[in-house]
Amino acid sequence: MRPHITVNFACSLDGRIASKGGRAFKFSNYEDLVRVHKMRSETDMIIVGKNTINLDDPKLVVNPKYYKSNHLPDVGILDTNLTVNPKAKVFGYPRNVVVFCGRDIKVNSDSNDLESKIMVRNSNDGYVDSYFVVKELEKLGYTTVMIEGGRSVITSFVSEGNWDEISIFYSPVIMGDDGIPMFGALSDPLKLGSLETSKLGDGVLIKIKKEF
Ligand SMILES: NC(=O)c1ccc[n+]([C@@H]2O[C@H](COP(=O)([O-])OP(=O)(O)OC[C@H]3O[C@@H](n4cnc5c(N)ncnc54)[C@H](OP(=O)(O)O)[C@@H]3O)[C@@H](O)[C@H]2O)c1
Repeated sequence: MRPHITVNFACSLDGRIASKGGRAFKFSNYEDLVRVHKMRSETDMIIVGKNTINLDDPKLVVNPKYYKSNHLPDVGILDTNLTVNPKAKVFGYPRNVVVFCGRDIKVNSDSNDLESKIMVRNSNDGYVDSYFVVKELEKLGYTTVMIEGGRSVITSFVSEGNWDEISIFYSPVIMGDDGIPMFGALSDPLKLGSLETSKLGDGVLIKIKKEF
Protein backbone atom coordinates (compact mmCIF):
# COMPACT_ATOMS: atom_id res chain seq x y z
CA MET A 1 0.00 0.00 0.00
CA ARG A 2 1.18 3.52 -0.79
CA PRO A 3 2.36 5.37 2.35
CA HIS A 4 0.42 8.30 3.76
CA ILE A 5 2.45 11.39 2.82
CA THR A 6 2.40 14.68 4.71
CA VAL A 7 4.36 17.61 3.31
CA ASN A 8 5.36 19.87 6.19
CA PHE A 9 7.29 23.12 6.25
CA ALA A 10 7.44 26.55 7.85
CA CYS A 11 7.68 29.88 6.06
CA SER A 12 7.42 33.63 6.29
CA LEU A 13 4.22 35.57 5.62
CA ASP A 14 5.53 36.19 2.11
CA GLY A 15 6.02 32.47 1.49
CA ARG A 16 9.81 32.17 1.87
CA ILE A 17 11.31 29.05 3.44
CA ALA A 18 14.91 30.29 3.89
CA SER A 19 16.93 33.50 3.91
CA LYS A 20 19.22 34.90 1.25
CA GLY A 21 21.50 32.27 -0.29
CA GLY A 22 19.44 29.44 1.22
CA ARG A 23 20.53 30.09 4.80
CA ALA A 24 18.14 28.42 7.26
CA PHE A 25 15.86 30.70 9.27
CA LYS A 26 13.93 29.66 12.40
CA PHE A 27 10.33 30.28 11.29
CA SER A 28 8.73 27.84 13.73
CA ASN A 29 7.72 29.04 17.19
CA TYR A 30 7.62 26.75 20.24
CA GLU A 31 4.04 25.64 19.56
CA ASP A 32 4.89 24.68 15.99
CA LEU A 33 8.00 22.78 17.09
CA VAL A 34 5.86 20.78 19.54
CA ARG A 35 3.47 19.96 16.68
CA VAL A 36 6.29 18.98 14.28
CA HIS A 37 8.14 16.80 16.81
CA LYS A 38 4.89 15.04 17.78
CA MET A 39 4.26 14.41 14.09
CA ARG A 40 7.81 13.03 13.72
CA SER A 41 7.13 10.68 16.64
CA GLU A 42 4.28 9.16 14.60
CA THR A 43 6.20 8.96 11.32
CA ASP A 44 8.15 6.01 9.85
CA MET A 45 10.34 8.15 7.63
CA ILE A 46 11.26 11.81 7.11
CA ILE A 47 12.25 12.69 3.55
CA VAL A 48 14.40 15.65 2.51
CA GLY A 49 16.45 16.72 -0.47
CA LYS A 50 20.22 16.52 -0.57
CA ASN A 51 20.60 20.32 -0.41
CA THR A 52 18.71 20.51 2.88
CA ILE A 53 21.15 18.00 4.39
CA ASN A 54 24.22 19.74 2.96
CA LEU A 55 23.06 23.29 3.78
CA ASP A 56 21.14 22.96 7.07
CA ASP A 57 22.57 19.71 8.47
CA PRO A 58 19.39 18.82 10.41
CA LYS A 59 19.29 15.87 12.85
CA LEU A 60 15.72 14.87 11.89
CA VAL A 61 14.96 13.30 15.26
CA VAL A 62 12.22 13.77 17.88
CA ASN A 63 13.70 16.35 20.26
CA PRO A 64 12.55 15.72 23.88
CA LYS A 65 12.62 19.49 24.43
CA TYR A 66 9.48 19.64 22.29
CA TYR A 67 7.96 16.16 22.52
CA LYS A 68 8.90 13.11 24.58
CA SER A 69 9.11 9.89 22.60
CA ASN A 70 11.62 7.09 22.08
CA HIS A 71 10.73 6.86 18.43
CA LEU A 72 13.54 7.52 15.93
CA PRO A 73 12.20 7.98 12.41
CA ASP A 74 14.17 6.67 9.45
CA VAL A 75 15.39 9.23 6.93
CA GLY A 76 15.10 9.31 3.13
CA ILE A 77 17.30 11.60 1.03
CA LEU A 78 16.73 12.43 -2.65
CA ASP A 79 20.22 12.63 -4.11
CA THR A 80 20.67 11.70 -7.78
CA ASN A 81 24.47 11.40 -7.76
CA LEU A 82 25.13 10.58 -4.11
CA THR A 83 26.84 13.83 -3.22
CA VAL A 84 25.35 14.13 0.26
CA ASN A 85 27.86 15.09 2.97
CA PRO A 86 28.87 11.75 4.58
CA LYS A 87 29.56 13.58 7.86
CA ALA A 88 26.02 15.01 8.11
CA LYS A 89 24.32 14.71 11.50
CA VAL A 90 21.47 12.51 10.18
CA PHE A 91 23.94 9.62 9.83
CA GLY A 92 24.84 9.69 13.51
CA TYR A 93 21.83 7.70 14.75
CA PRO A 94 20.95 3.98 14.85
CA ARG A 95 18.33 4.00 12.09
CA ASN A 96 17.98 3.36 8.39
CA VAL A 97 18.91 6.17 6.04
CA VAL A 98 17.70 5.43 2.52
CA VAL A 99 19.26 7.46 -0.28
CA PHE A 100 17.27 7.57 -3.52
CA CYS A 101 19.75 7.85 -6.40
CA GLY A 102 19.88 7.65 -10.18
CA ARG A 103 20.77 4.54 -12.15
CA ASP A 104 24.19 2.89 -11.51
CA ILE A 105 25.16 5.23 -8.66
CA LYS A 106 27.11 3.39 -5.97
CA VAL A 107 28.84 4.41 -2.75
CA ASN A 108 32.45 5.34 -3.28
CA SER A 109 34.56 3.20 -0.92
CA ASP A 110 36.58 6.19 0.31
CA SER A 111 33.53 8.21 1.35
CA ASN A 112 33.85 8.03 5.14
CA ASP A 113 32.09 4.70 5.77
CA LEU A 114 28.97 5.96 4.04
CA GLU A 115 28.31 2.41 2.84
CA SER A 116 27.67 1.19 6.38
CA LYS A 117 25.39 4.13 7.14
CA ILE A 118 23.01 4.13 4.16
CA MET A 119 20.83 1.96 1.96
CA VAL A 120 20.97 3.07 -1.69
CA ARG A 121 17.91 2.60 -3.93
CA ASN A 122 18.67 3.20 -7.61
CA SER A 123 16.06 4.38 -10.10
CA ASN A 124 16.06 2.99 -13.64
CA ASP A 125 16.84 6.44 -15.01
CA GLY A 126 19.44 9.15 -14.70
CA TYR A 127 17.07 11.05 -12.41
CA VAL A 128 14.98 10.51 -9.29
CA ASP A 129 11.30 11.47 -9.22
CA SER A 130 8.64 11.26 -6.53
CA TYR A 131 6.88 8.32 -8.28
CA PHE A 132 10.05 6.21 -7.97
CA VAL A 133 10.49 7.22 -4.32
CA VAL A 134 6.88 6.33 -3.46
CA LYS A 135 7.19 2.91 -5.15
CA GLU A 136 10.38 2.16 -3.22
CA LEU A 137 8.79 3.27 0.07
CA GLU A 138 5.91 0.91 -0.63
CA LYS A 139 8.32 -1.98 -1.30
CA LEU A 140 10.23 -1.19 1.90
CA GLY A 141 7.00 -1.20 3.92
CA TYR A 142 6.85 2.45 5.05
CA THR A 143 3.32 3.55 5.88
CA THR A 144 3.63 7.15 7.18
CA VAL A 145 6.05 9.60 5.62
CA MET A 146 6.77 13.30 6.19
CA ILE A 147 8.34 15.44 3.47
CA GLU A 148 10.29 18.17 5.27
CA GLY A 149 11.83 20.10 2.36
CA GLY A 150 13.49 21.81 0.78
CA ARG A 151 11.89 23.75 -1.98
CA SER A 152 12.69 21.35 -4.87
CA VAL A 153 11.50 18.27 -3.03
CA ILE A 154 8.31 19.99 -1.86
CA THR A 155 7.69 21.13 -5.45
CA SER A 156 8.26 17.62 -6.85
CA PHE A 157 5.96 15.75 -4.45
CA VAL A 158 3.17 18.34 -4.53
CA SER A 159 3.22 19.02 -8.29
CA GLU A 160 3.40 15.28 -9.07
CA GLY A 161 0.39 14.64 -6.82
CA ASN A 162 2.31 12.40 -4.41
CA TRP A 163 0.90 13.84 -1.19
CA ASP A 164 -2.09 13.37 1.11
CA GLU A 165 -1.77 16.39 3.41
CA ILE A 166 0.18 19.63 3.40
CA SER A 167 0.89 21.55 6.62
CA ILE A 168 2.36 25.02 6.34
CA PHE A 169 3.25 27.10 9.38
CA TYR A 170 3.23 30.84 8.63
CA SER A 171 5.46 32.93 10.87
CA PRO A 172 4.84 36.67 11.37
CA VAL A 173 7.97 37.72 9.48
CA ILE A 174 8.59 39.08 5.99
CA MET A 175 11.77 37.90 4.24
CA GLY A 176 11.49 39.95 1.06
CA ASP A 177 12.79 39.13 -2.40
CA ASP A 178 16.11 37.64 -1.29
CA GLY A 179 14.39 34.81 0.60
CA ILE A 180 13.90 31.40 -1.01
CA PRO A 181 10.28 30.88 -2.16
CA MET A 182 8.44 27.73 -1.00
CA PHE A 183 7.79 26.58 -4.58
CA GLY A 184 9.86 26.35 -7.73
CA ALA A 185 8.52 26.76 -11.26
CA LEU A 186 5.25 25.00 -12.14
CA SER A 187 3.91 24.33 -15.62
CA ASP A 188 0.38 25.26 -14.47
CA PRO A 189 -1.19 26.66 -11.28
CA LEU A 190 -2.00 23.88 -8.81
CA LYS A 191 -5.51 23.81 -7.32
CA LEU A 192 -5.20 22.14 -3.93
CA GLY A 193 -8.58 21.94 -2.19
CA SER A 194 -9.92 23.76 0.85
CA LEU A 195 -7.73 25.17 3.58
CA GLU A 196 -8.13 24.53 7.30
CA THR A 197 -6.56 27.23 9.43
CA SER A 198 -5.68 27.43 13.11
CA LYS A 199 -3.75 29.88 15.26
CA LEU A 200 -0.51 28.51 16.70
CA GLY A 201 1.09 30.95 19.15
CA ASP A 202 2.02 34.05 17.16
CA GLY A 203 1.68 32.23 13.83
CA VAL A 204 -0.90 30.42 11.74
CA LEU A 205 -1.05 26.80 10.64
CA ILE A 206 -2.65 25.96 7.31
CA LYS A 207 -3.60 22.37 6.54
CA ILE A 208 -4.75 21.08 3.19
CA LYS A 209 -6.10 17.57 2.71
CA LYS A 210 -6.06 16.09 -0.74
CA GLU A 211 -9.53 15.82 -2.24
CA PHE A 212 -9.86 12.67 -4.33
N1 LIG B 1 11.42 26.33 6.12
C1 LIG B 1 11.44 25.01 6.07
O1 LIG B 1 10.53 24.35 6.61
C2 LIG B 1 12.55 24.31 5.34
C3 LIG B 1 12.68 22.93 5.45
C4 LIG B 1 13.72 22.30 4.75
C5 LIG B 1 14.57 23.05 3.96
N2 LIG B 1 14.41 24.39 3.89
C6 LIG B 1 15.32 25.18 3.03
O2 LIG B 1 15.24 24.68 1.71
C7 LIG B 1 16.45 25.04 1.04
C8 LIG B 1 16.91 23.85 0.21
O3 LIG B 1 15.98 23.66 -0.82
P1 LIG B 1 16.48 23.20 -2.26
O4 LIG B 1 15.34 23.28 -3.19
O5 LIG B 1 17.73 23.92 -2.62
O6 LIG B 1 16.97 21.71 -1.99
P2 LIG B 1 16.29 20.35 -1.53
O7 LIG B 1 14.87 20.28 -1.95
O8 LIG B 1 16.63 20.13 -0.10
O9 LIG B 1 17.16 19.32 -2.37
C9 LIG B 1 17.07 19.39 -3.77
C10 LIG B 1 18.05 18.48 -4.42
O10 LIG B 1 17.64 17.14 -4.23
C11 LIG B 1 17.99 16.38 -5.36
N3 LIG B 1 16.83 15.70 -5.93
C12 LIG B 1 16.88 14.45 -6.45
N4 LIG B 1 15.69 14.10 -6.91
C13 LIG B 1 14.86 15.12 -6.71
C14 LIG B 1 13.49 15.33 -7.00
N5 LIG B 1 12.72 14.41 -7.58
N6 LIG B 1 12.95 16.49 -6.65
C15 LIG B 1 13.68 17.43 -6.04
N7 LIG B 1 14.99 17.29 -5.73
C16 LIG B 1 15.58 16.15 -6.07
C17 LIG B 1 18.52 17.37 -6.41
O11 LIG B 1 19.94 17.34 -6.36
P3 LIG B 1 20.68 16.32 -7.36
O12 LIG B 1 20.24 16.69 -8.73
O13 LIG B 1 22.11 16.52 -7.11
O14 LIG B 1 20.18 15.00 -6.96
C18 LIG B 1 18.06 18.70 -5.90
O15 LIG B 1 18.90 19.76 -6.26
C19 LIG B 1 17.46 25.41 2.11
O16 LIG B 1 17.68 26.80 2.02
C20 LIG B 1 16.77 25.07 3.41
O17 LIG B 1 17.11 25.95 4.44
C21 LIG B 1 13.43 25.03 4.56
